[in-house]
Amino acid sequence: MLSRWSQPCFWALKSMLALGLVLGVLALTFDLTKETSRSSTEATELNLTRWLYGTQDEESRILLPTNDVIKQGFPFFRGRKFKIWNNDLHSSPVQDLKHFLNPFGVEVIHYALDARCKRYFNGQCRGADEIKVINQSSVMDMDDQVITDFYQAYKDDAEMKSIDAFVCFHPAAVCELFLTFNRSLFVIASTRYAAARPEEMRWHTWNWRLARIARSPRNLVAANNRYDVEYMKFYAGIEPELLPSFCGYTNAVYHPTSNSSFLLYAGRYPTTKHNAYFESEWTEACKIENCTGFSVCHFFGAFEGGHSFEEEASFRGVIHIPYQVSTMSFFEQYRMGIPLFAPSLDLLASLDQQFDFVNERNCKDLRKCYHDDDIASIPRHPSAAHLPDPHNKTDSAAIRYWLKFADFYQWPHVIHFDSIADLIRKMKSTNYEDVSRKMRTYNERVETLLLLKWKRILTRVSLHR
Ligand SMILES: *[C@@H]1O[C@H](CO)[C@@H](O)[C@H](O)[C@H]1NC(C)=O
Ligand SMILES: *[C@@H]1O[C@H](CO)[C@@H](O)[C@H](O)[C@H]1NC(C)=O
Ligand SMILES: *[C@@H]1O[C@H](CO)[C@@H](O)[C@H](O)[C@H]1NC(C)=O
Ligand SMILES: *[C@@H]1O[C@H](CO)[C@@H](O)[C@H](O)[C@H]1NC(C)=O
Ligand SMILES: *[C@@H]1O[C@H](CO)[C@@H](O)[C@H](O)[C@H]1NC(C)=O
Ligand SMILES: *[C@@H]1O[C@H](CO)[C@@H](O)[C@H](O)[C@H]1NC(C)=O
Repeated sequence: MLSRWSQPCFWALKSMLALGLVLGVLALTFDLTKETSRSSTEATELNLTRWLYGTQDEESRILLPTNDVIKQGFPFFRGRKFKIWNNDLHSSPVQDLKHFLNPFGVEVIHYALDARCKRYFNGQCRGADEIKVINQSSVMDMDDQVITDFYQAYKDDAEMKSIDAFVCFHPAAVCELFLTFNRSLFVIASTRYAAARPEEMRWHTWNWRLARIARSPRNLVAANNRYDVEYMKFYAGIEPELLPSFCGYTNAVYHPTSNSSFLLYAGRYPTTKHNAYFESEWTEACKIENCTGFSVCHFFGAFEGGHSFEEEASFRGVIHIPYQVSTMSFFEQYRMGIPLFAPSLDLLASLDQQFDFVNERNCKDLRKCYHDDDIASIPRHPSAAHLPDPHNKTDSAAIRYWLKFADFYQWPHVIHFDSIADLIRKMKSTNYEDVSRKMRTYNERVETLLLLKWKRILTRVSLHR
């Protein structure tokens, strides 16, 4: 089936299906992490640029300090490190935080409960076997007994006593584990904040706790993408900070080694509906558009056995056929300046309505995202009374309203296509160097704003210790 692309593709694709099954099972068993036109008026009005920095008019009037100026005054805890503890299920956002804040006297103590740290980040973390009380599965099903046991196991621990803050990304609710330690809590959702708390009572409890966390100036409640900001507002009634992942850890820059090799990011493994959709549409489109010479490699086939970011940055571009509204891969690829193709909001909304396409969008139980019933077990917050329902999968207005918060529509310079034929035309006509340059310029802006935000956050936290 996939051999059509395997011939010109640089990396072997032959064991892709077997690998897909293995990955699928692994993902189901343990680590179901989330990973990532013709726009409508709403989409252009609500993109990241405007939302983060105000309107372009405002932006042109505001002169931001240089990064060097912002960096003055870091670190905040003179003479010692600001120590942050983490133990969650997705190493990439943690690695990002480490990489971004290490130069400023922040040390992240990272117990990785997933395999990514060892695989992609040279094991710059401690393993799941080194942490007491919790493991990969109990952290998902945490009850108050686990919280109590964890506190008992660590309350007299010398290292724990030196901790200034805890950070939780995935699932964000892991921060319930640290409620009793009387330290700063940084909740930064990198997928739906209620993930792993799908039941009505546990979701309510997490909401009350989150609201309490949000009230204290020594804490932080944030999300690394706009969808999660809006989703948290909708169900918890709090306004989280937007702190996009920077992913400077890739240390790679776009350097295409061929004009025709593309990476395809279509679902978590090659047997998904996303890949099937792409494959059949591509075959049809190639009857109309000349696609001779193009080589499209499925991510999980191309990178069987792992990959370096250097290899990823050597593709001409990446085609996203999304199963999720925000993924770490999107941030990584954006940071490397690789031109990105994604369905237009019109196309994705229509696919989602027809085929439940973006099927991990509202995943609450991380162990069974693929067949999630996708109904919220709690009502919306009263402040969201007037908004469309994110869990409604039939109302096209609701689907559009929520999908427009996906990274593909929030970040500028993503190339949107209305059909696969349109994609092929754009693959031919895009000025790749120009797009990549604009992405890299945007990255600089994001870095400056992230530095400003972290400086403000750490200053506030240090004043309220
Ligand atoms: C986002 O808004 C900015 C500023 O108004 C605009 O320049 C940019 O083209 C917009 N991007 C998208 C993807 O709509
Ligand atoms: C994880 O911890 C739970 C509760 O302590 C325990 O029942 C379970 O066997 C542990 N699982 C693994 C894989 O160690
Ligand atoms: C690749 O495209 C660039 C222009 O974008 C062109 O200068 C170059 O010759 C092309 N290389 C090949 C091998 O076709
Ligand atoms: C299709 O594109 C290839 C490569 O660019 C070219 O060699 C070939 O002549 C084209 N075929 C047609 C029918 O235009
Ligand atoms: C989705 O929204 C439509 C239109 O507002 C409504 O008729 C339908 O009942 C909703 N479905 C669910 C499951 O709430
Ligand atoms: C909690 O920490 C704060 C700030 O460090 C401190 O003032 C307060 O006494 C602590 N509370 C308890 C119960 O230890």
